[in-house]
Amino acid sequence: MDEISVAMIAAREAGAILKDRLDRIHSIEFKGERDLVTEADRLSEKCIRRIIMSKYPQDAILSEETATREEIGTFAGQRGRLWIVDPLDGTTNFAHGLRLFAVSIALMVDGDLVVGVVLDPSSGEVVSSEAGHGAYLGERRIRVSGTARLEDGLLATGFPYNLSRTRDNNLDHFVNLSFRCQAVRRLGSASLALTYVALGRLDGYWELGLSPWDVAAGSLIVTEAGGSVSDFRGGIFNPFGRQVVATNGLIHEEVLGALAEGRSGKALARFQPGPFFDQS
Ligand code: IPD
Ligand code: CA
Ligand code: CA
Repeated sequence: MDEISVAMIAAREAGAILKDRLDRIHSIEFKGERDLVTEADRLSEKCIRRIIMSKYPQDAILSEETATREEIGTFAGQRGRLWIVDPLDGTTNFAHGLRLFAVSIALMVDGDLVVGVVLDPSSGEVVSSEAGHGAYLGERRIRVSGTARLEDGLLATGFPYNLSRTRDNNLDHFVNLSFRCQAVRRLGSASLALTYVALGRLDGYWELGLSPWDVAAGSLIVTEAGGSVSDFRGGIFNPFGRQVVATNGLIHEEVLGALAEGRSGKALARFQPGPFFDQS
């Protein structure tokens, strides 16, 4: 059996666990100020680990609920085979019963992403990709949108859990880009946002403060669907780099330009409410 099939089986089994536990009372713990973990995250992770280890016992696995800071640092520059797993991407949504969450499984070999699978247990949609072979929704090949101008684009973003304690909380970019495109959504699941870019449902997505398991599978899927993925400065995307800009390719430069402007602080000053607001 090949790796993509193993990833699919693991994602489907884990997805069934999550679906089964949705809307039940969860034991919720806090990992940080706003960062939740439920028993569903842990059960899903156990299931995925078991399936991957039974087929590839020599491989390394970096999975959110068992990962340590040291482990992330070690894996960042390491060669070899590494599975990168988010057993439940969108835990806050899940804990509230909001059907926007996913299972995300990727395989990296010698630093290159080679397999990516994202499953949405609520809709049953599975989006998958193997490097060099395109991206698929089930059996159907998918492609990014053809939206050519940022002003016509629908984008998504997200905010770090520690947003009240860091200046890098993305609120500046959110305001700036909200003025420049059709609308900005905040889905609460990075991997779903990435697959929506690949499916052409969104034209772009950016976020910072991310972990490798949020973006590994989804970033490969976007690239294989014909989109562009980079860091905030347009540099080569690295799943360990904590930031991502993913677009249909056509609006990539415009999004990067807006992000650069957001950082300069000038952008917000330019967008003060106009006369319409002043009279109210
Ligand atoms: C989170 C989600 C969210 C993003 C956060 C992630 P989790 O993952 O992807 O959309 O804004 O940065 O940590 O904690 O639900 O697995
Ligand atoms: Ca996540
Ligand atoms: Ca998670």
